[in-house]
Amino acid sequence: MLIIETSNYTELSKRAANLVIDEISKKPNLRICFATGKTPFGMYEELIKTYKKKKVDFSKIISFNLDEYLGIKKENKNSYFYYMHENFFNHININKKNINLLDSETKDSKKECLLYERKIKEKPIDLMILGVGVNGHIGFNEPFSSFNSKTRVIELSDETIKRNSKYFRNIQNVPKKAITIGIGTVLNSKKIILLASGKDKSEAIKKLIKTKPDKSCPVTALRKHDNLIVILHKEAGRIIR
Ligand code: F6R
Repeated sequence: MLIIETSNYTELSKRAANLVIDEISKKPNLRICFATGKTPFGMYEELIKTYKKKKVDFSKIISFNLDEYLGIKKENKNSYFYYMHENFFNHININKKNINLLDSETKDSKKECLLYERKIKEKPIDLMILGVGVNGHIGFNEPFSSFNSKTRVIELSDETIKRNSKYFRNIQNVPKKAITIGIGTVLNSKKIILLASGKDKSEAIKKLIKTKPDKSCPVTALRKHDNLIVILHKEAGRIIR
């Protein structure tokens, strides 16, 4: 595990973007899995800036995403489809055919999971970008998810619904279900970059760095991976000293 401590969020975002750009320059058709949320937002901004300076070409990359709500329209501002297009895809030269997003409107969510898992099997992920939840979740893999889990439907915990309700008009509008790539699927990626910013992530990061893999904190599964880079904003990293 390589740990990179940064002194502020801008530096974290730049370091993450530079790592992504390095990987794309080594392999233009990189298969990359993206995360949503507030943590990677700055990384997307940096990637867009670099693209505008013509220093990176996204035309051949193949993208996947970690997760998606179920039962909301794609154009809903809270869908991850919307997040990715609004904050990243609409501003770069990714080939729309190479974007693989989970379908929030699917009528057959089990089939959607199987299809997604098959797509990933056919085009294994080279680079996985992750954020981490306060309770250590990765994607929507909440505590006690199996470390071998694959892409599947998740009933969101009351805690997650409550946390995410700040993004919705009211708590009743928060979807009760989501689809997430499994922890097993995450661990099959060739390289993983985990981003953590903010004091509230420090407990989860401490467990990742200092304790054995434990299902009560899903992010600790990443200790099993031999090509993991953790980029920390110093508040989240303070605990490692
Ligand atoms: C989002 C995702 C989630 C977030 C996590 C942290 O696609 O998979 O696991 O990475 O909830 O979210 P932020 O970055 O908003 O703190």
